[in-house]
Amino acid sequence: MHCVRKVVDDLYWVGANEHRLALFENIHPIPRGVSYNSYVLLDEKTVLFDTVDWAVCRQFLENLDHVLNGRDLDYIVINHMEPDHGASLEEVLLRYPNAQVISTEKSIMIMHQFGFDIDGRTEQVQGGDTRSFGKHTIAFVEAPMVHWPEAMVSFDTTNGVLFSADAFGSFGALDGKLFQDEVNFDRDWIDDARRYYTNIVGKYGPHVQDILKKAATLDIKVICPLHGPVWRGDFEYILDKYDKWSSYTPEEKGVLIVYASMYGNTESAAQVVAAKLVEKGIKNISVYDVSNTHVSYLVSDAFKFSHIIFASVTYNLGIYPVMHDFLMHIKALNLNNRICGIVENGSWAPKSGSLMRKFLDEEMVQMSVLNSEINMISSMGENNLGELDNFVNNLVDSMKD
Ligand code: FEO
Repeated sequence: MHCVRKVVDDLYWVGANEHRLALFENIHPIPRGVSYNSYVLLDEKTVLFDTVDWAVCRQFLENLDHVLNGRDLDYIVINHMEPDHGASLEEVLLRYPNAQVISTEKSIMIMHQFGFDIDGRTEQVQGGDTRSFGKHTIAFVEAPMVHWPEAMVSFDTTNGVLFSADAFGSFGALDGKLFQDEVNFDRDWIDDARRYYTNIVGKYGPHVQDILKKAATLDIKVICPLHGPVWRGDFEYILDKYDKWSSYTPEEKGVLIVYASMYGNTESAAQVVAAKLVEKGIKNISVYDVSNTHVSYLVSDAFKFSHIIFASVTYNLGIYPVMHDFLMHIKALNLNNRICGIVENGSWAPKSGSLMRKFLDEEMVQMSVLNSEINMISSMGENNLGELDNFVNNLVDSMKD
């Protein structure tokens, strides 16, 4: 059975929702599922904007067939060729043998790399090009490295609809809803939107800043991303989030405490630090055990908060491996501009504190590490109370404007 939604006059959502996939990109947990969005424009010509992941191809084809209602498909605009959107392209080409693919040179190259039979069926465009399909004229805007090199966005100059590729997307299945005003985005979606952006696109902040500047020149009425809700209002809200995330500006003044604990002693210290901070009036705190929290959630909160405390036991004379993995993730995603605190533990050769400081100082950029540390031998004791007070006071001072 088809399952489609009208977006605006002449434009329909023909995507599908996915609840069976455990790990997006085989890395990131998606307990709320995900949507793969695809859109059809019915003009003098018919135009499909992107396809969907192979897992939901059957539903998508049924939707497409329903909306076309007997008409042929003339064009397929591919804004992004990553397989969660491009995988069903070849099937669409088989079913609609007259359809031509419109995309960038790099995207067409990637179609060949995936083995798609597209010879004679492509029209290459570049940024600044336009195509008229009847009433609607589409302008193409290249968006390299948001977050693949071939990416572009398409703007309908007739009605102000922006097909934004992965930009402004989110984890989470739509489940009947389509628009941001049909959900409570700030309550139910923002954490997944942040986790999606930071883990998938977070590395490419400067490129996102470029596309935000281009977007600011357009009279946008609707934003149609490839995942998650369509935006037909509240643009300031989501643009502000994207501006902060892509400029590595903390969203909130607050403290992320991530601890690595083998026998509960470093965990106990993390709890003591959290309690002391709350006593000092710092209540915006999230505390996570690095060993049982998927790193995508830690990355998301690292982008959200202004301060990060790394509390780690020493393991084989090094940083606890799971904590090291978290550090490697935020380094890979170019996180910067955070104030960091270090809590070290070790029973016979404590090294994690000095090694985490070295990592933050030398392997990352603009990570300001507080001079005061907490250095425990096996567990926090009376002998640590002085440095605990110093550490907390310094952190609180660093939160004052
Ligand atoms: Fe949703 Fe970059 O693919």
